[in-house]
Amino acid sequence: MSGIIIAIDGYSSTGKSTFAKAISAKLGMVYLDSGALYRAVTLYSLEKGLIDKDNNIDLEGLQKALESDIVISYEQNDETGLFDICLNGVNVEKRIRMLDVSSSVSPIATVPAVRNFVDGQLHLYGSEGCVMDGRDIGTAVFPNADLKLFMTADAEIRAQRRLDEMKAKGEEADFEDVLKNVLERDYIDSHREMNPLRRADDAIDLDNSHMTIEEQMVWLSGILKERFGIEMQ
Ligand code: CDP
Repeated sequence: MSGIIIAIDGYSSTGKSTFAKAISAKLGMVYLDSGALYRAVTLYSLEKGLIDKDNNIDLEGLQKALESDIVISYEQNDETGLFDICLNGVNVEKRIRMLDVSSSVSPIATVPAVRNFVDGQLHLYGSEGCVMDGRDIGTAVFPNADLKLFMTADAEIRAQRRLDEMKAKGEEADFEDVLKNVLERDYIDSHREMNPLRRADDAIDLDNSHMTIEEQMVWLSGILKERFGIEMQ
């Protein structure tokens, strides 16, 4: 699978990253989480007061920070083997998944300068082949990706999955708050001007509302065989 790019796009909490990680482990491909980059920029903005609680953004300050102060790097996690994201040298892989970041990330991701910054990083690390998940990978970041998947699932099921994930990490959250955040992000992501969340014309749909990750892998193995002649064990 070297040199091959698999783009996985879809709505919030459809399990894109779980699927992408499983594919990366099975096929030995680099995994890149584009959402983590938007989340890291959001965390920086929250810490520096570049976004307030009503999600008003200091666009000039953010633009300057992107040009000179935000440095993204990666560090291999001994337990997972995956690469954790670091913001200015600090590993923020866990911090960026918390609800305060989730609540501000979609407004930050509408800012063109932020999208250009993230796209640059994704091309830097992913051009040689990868499995990458996000909202605009198959439409804007890698429109020539070798395989494009578009994931959906019922909103309530997605909110429950996100809640279970948060609870497992010991984070308190309320189902209604999580559902509201999921729906708000879907709305902002699909209505923004620059590179909105949209199914690429040549994407293959996957509704995993009632599928396990194992069932998804079986589904994928059929596609890989048909498309690339690859047998996935
Ligand atoms: O995992 P989850 O569905 O919660 O979202 P994520 O992949 O971590 O992405 C967080 C947010 O970043 C999304 O809600 C989008 O607003 C933004 N994003 C984007 O605009 N474009 C991407 N390619 C990836 C994420």
